[in-house]
Amino acid sequence: MNVLVIGGGGREHTIAWKLTQSPKVKKIYCAPGNGGTAQFAQNVPIDVHDFAGLAQFAKDEGIDLTIVGPEDPLFAGIVDFFEQRNLPIYGPHADAARMEGSKCFAKKMMSRYNIPTARYESFIDYESALAYVREQGAPIVIKADGLAAGKGVVVAESLEEAENALFDMMKTGSFGEAGARVVIEECMRGEELTLLSFVDGETVKPMIASQDHKQVFDGDKGPNTGGMGTYAPVPQVSAALMEQIVETIVKPIAKGMVQEGFPFKGVLYTGLMLTAVGPKVVEFNVRFGDPETQVVLPLLKTDLVDIVLATISGELASLDIQWKEGSAVCVVMAAPGYPGEYPKGAVIEGLADAKADDNVFVFHAGTKQADDAVVTNGGRVLGVTGIGNGLIEARDAAYAGVKKLRFEGAHYRTDIAAKALRRV
Ligand code: AMP
Ligand code: GLY
Repeated sequence: MNVLVIGGGGREHTIAWKLTQSPKVKKIYCAPGNGGTAQFAQNVPIDVHDFAGLAQFAKDEGIDLTIVGPEDPLFAGIVDFFEQRNLPIYGPHADAARMEGSKCFAKKMMSRYNIPTARYESFIDYESALAYVREQGAPIVIKADGLAAGKGVVVAESLEEAENALFDMMKTGSFGEAGARVVIEECMRGEELTLLSFVDGETVKPMIASQDHKQVFDGDKGPNTGGMGTYAPVPQVSAALMEQIVETIVKPIAKGMVQEGFPFKGVLYTGLMLTAVGPKVVEFNVRFGDPETQVVLPLLKTDLVDIVLATISGELASLDIQWKEGSAVCVVMAAPGYPGEYPKGAVIEGLADAKADDNVFVFHAGTKQADDAVVTNGGRVLGVTGIGNGLIEARDAAYAGVKKLRFEGAHYRTDIAAKALRRV
């Protein structure tokens, strides 16, 4: 098969890498891809929003399967667009993608189907929002309703911080349409957990649970990022708790989406907080997580193509999905300044050296192939995944890989997986 992967981050490098292990795959294309995918796939310079261009490419090159990485094209209906042209594609339709595209929409679905989540109110009027925040007090969470490139959530520890966030989102126009409506939530406390699931309508096949590290600095300090590192599996989560999450959260929401007339097909990302009163949903996303994918797919034994094809043909229920023993840890190396402003174009050294270890995979996120070097081209630059028999081995492998890699001002957290290891 010829397979096209849409996107150009660490998640897409990982998906494309996984595809290289499938005997069914002949050639892999990535649009637009990055410096990592360039090494084994053909990068295609078509924007992820250019549906006509992507569909034309798929037709011309005889693409047998397209897999969508990021959320934006899903929100904008790329799956609908391809299907209308009889082009096989993996991911949810635009109506199902609203589970991530609108926080209000997701909250309404959760309350309709009794899914545990933080208490919330939504506002389009600044004065009412401000009055509500003052009445509730801090800590409190303020979210822009629509897409805000990962920057739409402020966990405000003080009233002042909350008021500033509201002002930014609703008064300055800096969030555009996304800020026109805000969701204000009760602040939940507890450890976070990501559960990715392969979903086809009511069929839910959970993957191995993982944990992201959202804040930029060690000890969960500093602003939220897209994710600074992950590990899987998560030993704090017992089999019983996993079962509870699947049975009381993921399956009911998948069933609810079927009942509402927009069945989900693809990867459903459930972001959870393990609170003192049980697991609660932080968010649903409609795609693989980044950098969760970088630790989950290396542990997948079953051919990813078989899972994708079974989903497209409606046969996921009868597929047995197998996982490897062992653990994986991913450490993200970011550009200096990320998640704020950061430079691009720094030469990355040590790639061949880091890759020489069989237990280390260097997934590129923000990189590109320049004339004779790979250079930085984004905020999150590399995701270095280590695998091992347990988390300690995996973590040591990941950091050994990180030590071999260099670019100017590289920043990474030194405590990825520490929450799990404290208890081992
Ligand atoms: P979201 O984009 O909704 O996933 O939010 C990004 C991050 O903000 C989450 O991963 C949490 O770390 C944090 N967060 C979001 N909602 C809440 C909440 N209600 N209480 C505490 N933290 C939250
Ligand atoms: N790592 C968080 C996300 O993919 O949304």
